[in-house]
Amino acid sequence: MVLKGTEFYNSEKGLHQYIESKNVADEANSTLEKPYIMNLAGDVLQKRILDLGCGDGELGNRFLENNSDGYYCGIDASKKMVEMAREKLPANATLKQCNIEDCWENEPWSSKAFDIVISSMALHYIHDLNKVMGKIHRVLKDEGTFIFSVEHPVITSNYESSEGNEDHGSWLVDNYFTEGERQTYWLGTNILKYHRSLETYFSLLINNGFLIDDVKEGKPVRERFMYEHNYEQRLKKPMYLIIKCKKKGGRAA
Ligand SMILES: C[S@@+](CC[C@H](N)C(=O)[O-])C[C@H]1O[C@@H](n2cnc3c(N)ncnc32)[C@H](O)[C@@H]1O
Repeated sequence: MVLKGTEFYNSEKGLHQYIESKNVADEANSTLEKPYIMNLAGDVLQKRILDLGCGDGELGNRFLENNSDGYYCGIDASKKMVEMAREKLPANATLKQCNIEDCWENEPWSSKAFDIVISSMALHYIHDLNKVMGKIHRVLKDEGTFIFSVEHPVITSNYESSEGNEDHGSWLVDNYFTEGERQTYWLGTNILKYHRSLETYFSLLINNGFLIDDVKEGKPVRERFMYEHNYEQRLKKPMYLIIKCKKKGGRAA
């Protein structure tokens, strides 16, 4: 059985495994991904932020810290994740349980409602990313910021390398230009993700009216690691693709 992202994070087993995987020294997201997301987001004081695939509210918590005039709306398809986020986040956070692919039509958001749209490690679960990027463009103010992270295309191209390769030291890039569904055995479950090439991520952004501001690949920084061998391990291949872009002003919504 292969689970979609939404099903995995809503299952007792999936959620348990996911939370356990976070509690290890030098965990990948906390060392290679979240620091870049936070740096790229910069000053969020009084900003209106939409977080797509907010999970347990980790980013929301950081954004609302000392920012009581900010507005934060987190969206996640997993009921369990939204419940966890509710417990973690301050009362002024808005949370909605809905799917990123079809949450837009029934929402009261006018166009140009948000200063920042952020999505950390959720968009590689999305089938129609072109449609979602169009919706993101609509809800952003002119010059508004869109920041997202996904598994790096080098990783999503071919998961076979992870099998029987516990330390994931090397990785075989294969079928790179054959985009679409990928099945991977992750945290004890077969799960469905989507592979897109670098070129496709950039084309989707450009064609939907975004200007690229910055790109990161989760390059390890020694000071963020407790152990030297974990740092050296992470120098071997890029785990994440993290892009910051801006809505081009003046485009019809
Ligand atoms: C890897 S977790 C990341 C959570 C959070 N953004 C973070 O970085 O801590 C991926 C999240 O995306 C959510 N997700 C996956 N597919 C989704 C979809 N189609 N619509 C809404 N949420 C989705 C999952 O429920 C899960 O909470």
